[in-house]
Parts: sequence; C-alpha cells; structure tokens
Amino acid sequence: MKPIRKAIFPVAGLGTRFLPATKAMPKEMLPVVDRPLIQHLVDEAREAGIEHFIFVTGRNKAVIEDYFDRQFELELTLKERNRLADLKLLSADLPEAGTASFTRQQSPLGLGHAVWCARELVGREPFALLLPDVLVQHKPGCLAQMIDAYRSADDNANVIAVEEVPMERISSYGVVGVGPPKGKMFSISEMVEKPPRDKAPSNLIITGRYILQPEIFDLLETQTGGAGGEIQITDSMITLARTQPFYGLKFEGRSFDCGSKIGFLTANVAYAMERPDLGPALREEIKKLLGGK
Ligand code: G1P
Repeated sequence: MKPIRKAIFPVAGLGTRFLPATKAMPKEMLPVVDRPLIQHLVDEAREAGIEHFIFVTGRNKAVIEDYFDRQFELELTLKERNRLADLKLLSADLPEAGTASFTRQQSPLGLGHAVWCARELVGREPFALLLPDVLVQHKPGCLAQMIDAYRSADDNANVIAVEEVPMERISSYGVVGVGPPKGKMFSISEMVEKPPRDKAPSNLIITGRYILQPEIFDLLETQTGGAGGEIQITDSMITLARTQPFYGLKFEGRSFDCGSKIGFLTANVAYAMERPDLGPALREEIKKLLGGK
C-alpha cells in the first residue's frame, strides 16, 4: 500500500457567488473566523500526514501563493514589538520550504481539468484531493479518517468521502450508489454527476474529499465535457471504477458548503463557537440577536 503524501487543492474557481467580496480577492482567502478557508484545508491535510501541498490556481490568485510564503516585514515588526506568540503562529502555519507547489489552470474547463493540471506535480502515486468549498469540522479530520480506512483496503483502492443530503438538493452534487460493506466503508456500485432527482442512485453525495490512484490522470487526459459542459472528475472516476475498486466512507463530523453564503456563514459561527477565546461571548451575542433586541 503506497502512502498518500501529496494533496491537490483546486483553487482556480472565480467565486462569483461571493461578489463583490471576491472581486479582488480569491474566495479561498475569505476567513472562517481568523484563518483563510484554504488554511483550514491545509490544516486538515497536514493533520492527515500530507507532506506536499499542490495548488491549482488561476488568474487573480497570486495572493494565495503569497499567503503561503514568509512575510519578512511583518515578521520583523512582530519581533520588534515582542509579539512572539503571533510570530510563532505564523511560522507554524507555513508549509516547510519546498513542500508547496503552484500550477495554473489556464482555462476554466472544470474540476477534472484542474486536477489533470497537477499531473506532473503528483507523478505516479496515489494522492488526496480536497475541494476548498467544503469544510468538515471534526477531530480527527475527514482526510485523516479516509487515510485510516484506505490503509485497510486493497492496494489500488480509491476512497471518496460521502454524506447524506435531502433529496431536493441531490442534483447539485456527485451521487454514489451503495454496494457491499468493506470494513468501515462500502463498495461504490455507481457514480453520477449532478443527476436529476429521479435518476439519483441514493441520497449519498460526494463530499469533496478523495483519495485517487494516478491512473485517473490518464483518463482525464481524454475526458470530454459532462454535466454543465465541464470536464468532470466524476466521469473519469466512473471509467476508473471498471478496473479499480472505489469505496465510500461516511465520515464523522459536520460538513459546511462554503461555496454557498449560508454554508460559509454557518461555518464561521460553528468554528467560532468551538474556540475557547470566542465561543462563550459569541453565544451571548447570538442569544441577544435571536431575542430580537
Ligand atoms: C464538485 C464535484 C461533485 C461534488 C461537489 C462537492 O461539484 O464535481 O461531485 O459532490 O464538488 O462539493 P461542484 O461543487 O464543483 O459543482
């Protein structure tokens, strides 16, 4: 069983659902409490043992690359002001030199195309894929739970995080069919991207966390447009599932779709509530708001 060392973060999306906030700033830099969305994702990957972080960016996303670099002026100022705790925090979050890579998706052709853009950086080894729109609140994190389950699976296994959603939302997602159980996971019997409600094989959706074998890149190379005319990773996974096992893991924890305003706002509240320095005061403020006064 080859270890999962690398993770892909596709961060080229335009973020039109958050305009005007995202007019001059990538949506992945929007803060959930005081950490950018993308930092939460990197935290989850790092906790799961990921050693190399691959960002597929696009135009107007250079600030993400700057964010994962040192900021000498800021560091110097903090040092001069003896703000050592803040300084420590900054360096703890920084990927070690040489462990973050950036490549560009030159045209917005879909998620499958974004993943394919990282093929040279990943090489021929299994990898993790984390979609930055989705946050999962749990310790251990969603990817750590998946890697744990993956270790007990077949050598060429692919693992996808899944969760239940109400049927009226099913057509916004990739949906899986449920086959026989496999340890904590189940075999995926079918997959379909954004099906109409009456064609969905279950109420279990693909949550935005994947462990995939490198053969997916060979399929993405020639993948044609699918749902919405975009090159869909799900369509290449359907082909790969003919020759390799695919498992679904119903992870523990609550997910937030931070691609939607309500999901993003709820994530902010949920993450702040968990913080000892913010939770109690926030609860009081929310009580006041709900009291209508
Ligand atoms: C993508 C995937 C889909 C998955 C979803 C999770 O869709 O294609 O299978 O269920 O992320 O958020 P998107 O949200 O990019 O349309």
